[in-house]
Amino acid sequence: MITLTVPPTFAGWRSAARKALQEGIPPGEILWEEAGGDAPLLDLFTLEPALPASIQSPVRVPPAFMELAKRVACHRAPTRWAILYRALWRITHGEPHLLDVFVDSDVHQLMGMDKAVRRDVHKMRAFVRFREVTHPEGVWSVAWFEPAHLIVELNASFFVDRFAGMRWSILTPDRCVHWDGESLGFSPGVDRSAAPGEDAVEDLWRTYYSHIFNPARVKIHAMQAEMPKHYWKNLPEAALIPDLLRAAPGRVAEMLSRSLIKSAPAESRETIISEVADWESLKESASTCQACPLYKNATQTVFGEGPRSARIVLLGEQPGDQEDIQGRPFVGPAGQLLDRALTEAGIDRKECYVTNSVKHFKWEPRGKRRIHEKPNKTEVSACKPWWKAELALVRPSVLICLGATAAQTVFDRDVRVLAERGTVVETVHAAKTLITVHPSSLLRISDPEQREHAYRRFVEDLTLVL
Ligand code: URA
Repeated sequence: MITLTVPPTFAGWRSAARKALQEGIPPGEILWEEAGGDAPLLDLFTLEPALPASIQSPVRVPPAFMELAKRVACHRAPTRWAILYRALWRITHGEPHLLDVFVDSDVHQLMGMDKAVRRDVHKMRAFVRFREVTHPEGVWSVAWFEPAHLIVELNASFFVDRFAGMRWSILTPDRCVHWDGESLGFSPGVDRSAAPGEDAVEDLWRTYYSHIFNPARVKIHAMQAEMPKHYWKNLPEAALIPDLLRAAPGRVAEMLSRSLIKSAPAESRETIISEVADWESLKESASTCQACPLYKNATQTVFGEGPRSARIVLLGEQPGDQEDIQGRPFVGPAGQLLDRALTEAGIDRKECYVTNSVKHFKWEPRGKRRIHEKPNKTEVSACKPWWKAELALVRPSVLICLGATAAQTVFDRDVRVLAERGTVVETVHAAKTLITVHPSSLLRISDPEQREHAYRRFVEDLTLVL
């Protein structure tokens, strides 16, 4: 076994790898060890002396491999040198198209490292924030950044191009890069304490960020994927994020209930609501909806529930007395009948998303009882953005409209349920959109035989979407 101690740089590895290849040393016989030191990682800015002919490799290595190797060299894993050499050996020993074999373990590992490095390069471009400091020669912009990998040199030319007119330094724990307006230089890594602290530039960023932050557009997962928490501590605006996120649903609700909900045309509300990106925010925003007067007499908004990955969405009319109290759709007598019918039709309610066309209970008092009252057209259309946003998030392949109110709001026209029931058509909301009766209509049939007959037909309708 030979131990090759190389500077942990692309140039260092390349030169050692060429020699090992030349000598015909198989990968299994080399132990790659990293030497200390602060040599540049890449030789992108210095020309390596031409190799003497005697040790120039007679074999050709695809340029794509060398490009990949340059990036993989910036990964922190100490195993990268051995994997790179093994791949190089295989490419030059009968597997010239190795890089096309994605399932190969070496290729897979190299691709994974390459991806991590590229991602880190992108993060550095996105999250470096300069702070201005006064330097004897004038204003100098300094940024502190903690890359996941050794990407400072790989990224330097990007910053030169982008900030050519400024004089700047980017300090990192691994390596620092400096641009004085004319030439680029590198120096060893430094401790964070070397970086300047807060100043007015940061306040500017913070103000800017809180202004461009649109609570209706918050996509928390995407945001964290794009701006991982690791980087937050060095971003002045990141300190605002937790508060902004916490306030987001409320701010959306406020936006909606302020001018928009009350006075804006339904389409504007619909646009805003459709931009609320996640279900929790949507539900929270709906909880303060005042788009029509129904909120005044209802206990609460009854929002939809069920898996967001549901294949089937059931759309009812509006919550009833029980639903209004419990805050959940279809939990009263109609809901129980619906559950039974679904089971008989072979549909598991737990796998369905269940919601209503109108989210507040409309009722009138009769003695001590609250009697259901049909919502009018204005109320139904005020609520339309909510169920549309729910459907846009769930994206079901089946939408079951239970009763006339649901069918009319979905099809945007008068629907005679008894004439159109049992038809399955494609709509913008779902490939299979079914119109059927509302389960409460079955409960109102007093004759047991007729009720049983109507129930059977209801179950039959439900089976049409299986
Ligand atoms: N009727 C409906 O339309 N929805 C419910 O949630 C309950 C009864």
